[in-house]
Parts: sequence; C-alpha cells; structure tokens
Amino acid sequence: MLGGRPANHNLRDHAPSEPMSQTDPHHLTSKLMKWFDASGRGNLPWRDAPCGARDPYRVWLAEIMLQQTTVAAVIPYFLDFTARWPDVKALAASDADDVMRAWAGLGYYARARNMLKCARHVAGERQGAFPRDEADLRALPGIGPYTAAAIAAIAFNGSAAPVDGNVIRVLSRLYAIADIMPANKAKIGEVATRLLPKERSGDFAEALMDLGATVCKPKSPDCAACPWEADCQANLADEAAAYPKKAPKKDKPTRRGWAVWMERADGAVLLERRPDKGLLGGMMGFPTTPWVVVGQETELDAAQAAQAMGVGSDWRIVDGLVHHTFTHFHLELRILKTHLKIVPREGIWCPRADLDAQALPTVMKKIARLAC
Ligand code: ADE
Repeated sequence: MLGGRPANHNLRDHAPSEPMSQTDPHHLTSKLMKWFDASGRGNLPWRDAPCGARDPYRVWLAEIMLQQTTVAAVIPYFLDFTARWPDVKALAASDADDVMRAWAGLGYYARARNMLKCARHVAGERQGAFPRDEADLRALPGIGPYTAAAIAAIAFNGSAAPVDGNVIRVLSRLYAIADIMPANKAKIGEVATRLLPKERSGDFAEALMDLGATVCKPKSPDCAACPWEADCQANLADEAAAYPKKAPKKDKPTRRGWAVWMERADGAVLLERRPDKGLLGGMMGFPTTPWVVVGQETELDAAQAAQAMGVGSDWRIVDGLVHHTFTHFHLELRILKTHLKIVPREGIWCPRADLDAQALPTVMKKIARLAC
C-alpha cells in the first residue's frame, strides 16, 4: 500500500520541523499529478500551453482576475481583455477609462487600477518582461504572496507553492490540520512546499487548485473521486467537510445611505466618478451620501440627504430599497429623485439610453433599475 497509514498521521502534534506525515510526499504528489493529467481543467483559456511555456502576461492577467472571483465569472472577461489587449504593452498603452469600463461587473475595482499600474511598470521599466522571481513579482502593484507564487510557478515553473482557500481546504483535510483559518496558512504553506515536485511546480499548483474546485469541494467533497481518498486523514475519519476549521462567522454589519437620481428635462441623468480610493474607486455611479454603519453612525433623513447632496427642495423619495452585499457589509440605499436645471456637482449627464454602455458596477445598476 502506498504510504501505510500510521496511527498518528496528522500535523496537530508535530512541531513544524518534524516530519509531518509518514506517507511519502513523492507518492502523494505522483498520485495528484496522475489525477491532474487525466482530470484537470486543461480547457481553461489561460491554460493554452504547458506550465513554464505560457505567456506570463496571460498568466498574470488571469491570476489578477481570479483573485476572489470564480473561474466562471472570469472566463468572459479574460477572453475580452486578451482580445482587446493581447500583450502587456497594449494594455499599458490603453486608456484607463476603457479598462475600467471593460472591468465593470467583475468587482473589487482596486484590482483593475493596480493591474494597469503594474502593466505600465512592466512595459515602461522592464521592456514588457515580467520578473520570474517571487520576491520581484511581489514588489509589483496588485501582486500579493499568493499571486506571486502562482505566477512564478505557472508562468516560469519556479519552485513556488501558492496557498489560497482551495489549497488550504485540500491540505488541511489531507493532514487533518485542525488549526483555525487563517492561522493555519503557514503550516499549510510548509506542507505544500514538502509536496512540491522538483519539476512541474506549475502543474502541481494547478492540480491543487483543480482538486479543490472540482473534487475537494467545501460542502460536499467527492472523496470517492479523489486521488488521495486512501491518504486523507479527514476522509478516513469521515469528517472531510469539517475541515478547514473556521472561527464562527461574524454577522456582517449593515450600512445605509442615499443615492440621487438627477434627471434633466431631456431625460439625461447625472453620473459622477467615485474617488479613486475606497470601494468602487474610480468607477462611475450615481452620487450617494456616505454609507454609515447602522447602530454606530448617524443616519441622514431624506431632507438632510437632499441638503448634503445639494439637491435643493424639489425632490421625492423613490419607493423601495436597493440591497447589495459587499464582502464585509450589507448596503441599503434609498433613492431621491430630482429634476435639476443646474449641475450641482462634478459629473456627466448620461442619456438614459446610454446607461448600459457606461458599464456601471452592479450596485449602481440596481439603483438605475429601481429609479427608472
Ligand atoms: N484560481 C486561481 N488561479 C487559478 C488558475 N490558474 N486556474 C484555476 N483557478 C484558479
């Protein structure tokens, strides 16, 4: 039997420098790689060549888009971006507004701004060549430890083991690592490094991602389909779904605010660009008051909001509420509708028929839907 299973085969009681499992890492890795060759997601559009032979620009772009975003959501954006801007120099030379528009709907807009900064740096300072080294990659805008390791491994076959939520889930189950997330990250990184093959480190990274996404799923892992079925400590204890251990979820706070739908006689509505820093930074949207935390900050009533937004006295409240959930809070917006003859703040008048072309963030689309 591969890797006979000793009684104590998990990481809980081992100092980091001790051997963490008597199951030979080479056997585990080779099982994983066989599974990947047969069952990995080879058809993803950014996997158009073997790891190590890929275009680093496409690898980088995919990894930026995949930060906290699903593969299914990313695919159409990746195809659109690579068709419009086929290399890093083309992206660097693009108009920032065009890029933000193309990114609209993908969320986490700071990524798009950092992506453009990074492209301009690589095109301007590095003749279009991405660095191979993890530390050099980490120094670029928008590239954290995970993304640097993923690019180093996948684009350059560098000896790097990216650790994200998928990898934490798979490896915490394999070794029944009971530490609570995210404190378990360092230990998982160590385990991943032990399993890392000398060659094919990019394939290894993708194999772990694919196993986590298609087999070792959060709620209902398909252990019967797993190459590590007979090795996985959590599975052997019949408690795979109980890993990784998590602290109890805190309730998300709710924030509230007012949005303004200002409409001119010709039907055009006012849009303004949000400040670069902060949520939806740099994106176009309807003017809003600050979003205050319910129960902690003072909420404005309609008249106060109208005054704060320079709307005067000619307004009415739109029936209904816009609900939107961001990563860290729920948002509830009410809408004031007004017909203005003067422009009270910086913005653009957008014909209603052109609102779709503005590629507004989702919460702004919800406002438009309710106010129209
Ligand atoms: N998630 C993050 N990076 C990924 C990749 N390269 N392939 C699939 N899913 C991913």
